[in-house]
Amino acid sequence: MKVIADESIESQVDSYPSPVNESAVDTSLSIVGQAHAILINSCGSCHQNSLPTQKAGALAVYDLDDTKNWYKEMTEEEFDGVERRLVNRDQFTEEQAEQMLLFLELARSELF
Ligand code: HEC
Repeated sequence: MKVIADESIESQVDSYPSPVNESAVDTSLSIVGQAHAILINSCGSCHQNSLPTQKAGALAVYDLDDTKNWYKEMTEEEFDGVERRLVNRDQFTEEQAEQMLLFLELARSELF
């Protein structure tokens, strides 16, 4: 009796239309968002326009306060510069470094 009840709930859930079509979610946005959050955390002190500790030279490379476009003017050499810094485990965990590498791969291929 209980099993039948459980099955009927399950089949109702399965046949109920999902409110979110996951195939339409723009995952590239969340990769950019993740990269942005990671860099704010590790590099924002100089690369964020709004902070008193900001450095003009750093902002010329990228300004994390430009939430949408911060990486769009960056050159291949500058992406390489970000990648070089990922080995610093004081600033990036293994997981963060992996997320950043994924971001760099997509950014270099101009996929976003
Ligand atoms: C203490 C300030 C400061 C912090 C923190 C900082 N930067 Fe920078 N960054 C600069 C300055 C200033 C420049 C401009 C070029 C120069 O003077 O070396 C720069 C330039 C760069 C460049 C371009 C030139 C190069 O060396 O490759 C990249 C890429 C870069 N920063 C990435 C990062 C990343 C990634 C982090 C965080 C892990 C970070 N920076 C943290 C100050 C900083």
